[in-house]
Parts: sequence; structure tokens; C-alpha cells
Amino acid sequence: TKRIAFLASGRGSNFQAVLDAIAAGEIPAVCVGLVTDNPRAHAIERAKDAGIPATVVEYARFPSKAAYEEGLLAAMRNCRADLFVLAGYMRILGAAIVHEFSGRMINIHPALLPAFAGLHAQRQAVEYGVKVSGCTVHLVDEGTDTGPIVVQRCVPVLPDDDETALADRILVEEHKALPLAVKLFCEDRLEVTGRRVRVR
Ligand code: GAR
Repeated sequence: TKRIAFLASGRGSNFQAVLDAIAAGEIPAVCVGLVTDNPRAHAIERAKDAGIPATVVEYARFPSKAAYEEGLLAAMRNCRADLFVLAGYMRILGAAIVHEFSGRMINIHPALLPAFAGLHAQRQAVEYGVKVSGCTVHLVDEGTDTGPIVVQRCVPVLPDDDETALADRILVEEHKALPLAVKLFCEDRLEVTGRRVRVR
């Protein structure tokens, strides 16, 4: 049984999807903590409801980005997690944190990477005019949304889609992709060779 923890900034529906999969016995893991940069994140209520300790590390309370990152790293270490899941964490992690959790931190992104990295991925996809998009779960490396890809799921982009309609369609797939990726990690079934992740 792996110890997994989450970093989330908002609603926390992906966090919830993994908690539900654990509760259903689908993932050999125990969730040991939520860390958030946002004291108003709905993810905090979800953690409370599930009896999971939540730690708020609020960006505005630190004198610098470096000090914030130190506080965040301390909170993350404190979880003693085997896997850290970025589930809607909306800041870019500093190199020290990425390095410390290398190979045991994954992120979910609402586009088919390497297309539409960064913020507002669904809006980027609509504006670009692509006909398919989706979501990606990847290992976190030093870049923004660049790490080795673990799971992708796709959806059509329909002619009348706006950002919200596409985001809603992608979110349904996120709630399948993230629990699957966490499950594969927790079952030690991921084999990483350079950029490529093979599922055993
Ligand atoms: C999800 O769509 C996730 O892919 C996205 O934020 C949303 C969080 O929703 N993440 C990013 O855009 C990362 N840059 P949730 O809080 O309900 O899981």
C-alpha cells in the first residue's frame, strides 16, 4: 500500500476522483494529506469529509517566492508520501521541489500534451481550432507540462464548443485518467526509460 498525497489549488474534483477510487478498493493506496496554496480551495472540504489532513501554504503570507517554496516543500515532506499528485495545482513548482520528488510526482493537464501546455489549455485548444483534445497525466520534470507521459485520453472538440463546454467534456476523462495513472504507479507497473513510460 502506497502513501499518496495531493497538491491542489481549487475545486478538487480530480482529488475526489482518486479518493473515490481508493475507497472503492481500486487503488492500493492510502491518502495521507492534501497541501494547498489556496485557503478557499474546495479541495479542503473534500479532505475534511474524508478525514485527510489538509495543510494550507498561502503564497501571499510569504515574503518571496523562494520562501513560499520552502514552506511548501516542508509541508510536502511532512506527508511522507511515496507519490505526490498535482491535481489542479495552478503554480509552477520550483526546481528544488521538482528535484526532491523526481520520479514520484505526477500532474494532470487538460490537453493532449505537448499541445497547449500552461494555463487555459482548453481555451487554447478552442482558439486553435483543433478537432480533438483531451487530458494528459505525466511525471513532473523541470519544465512546464513537459515530463514523461503516463496516460492520455481524448475527446472531440465540437463546432459550437466554448472553453467551458470543452473543459466539461475533458474533465469527465480526467476523472478516469488520473485514478488510472495513480493505480499504475501504486502497483509499481510504470517503467520509465528516458521520455517513454511503459506499462508492465
Ligand atoms: C483540471 O481541469 C486540471 O486538469 C487543471 O485544472 C483543473 C482542476 O480541476 N489543471 C491545470 O490546468 C494545471 N495547469 P479540479 O480542481 O476539479 O481537479
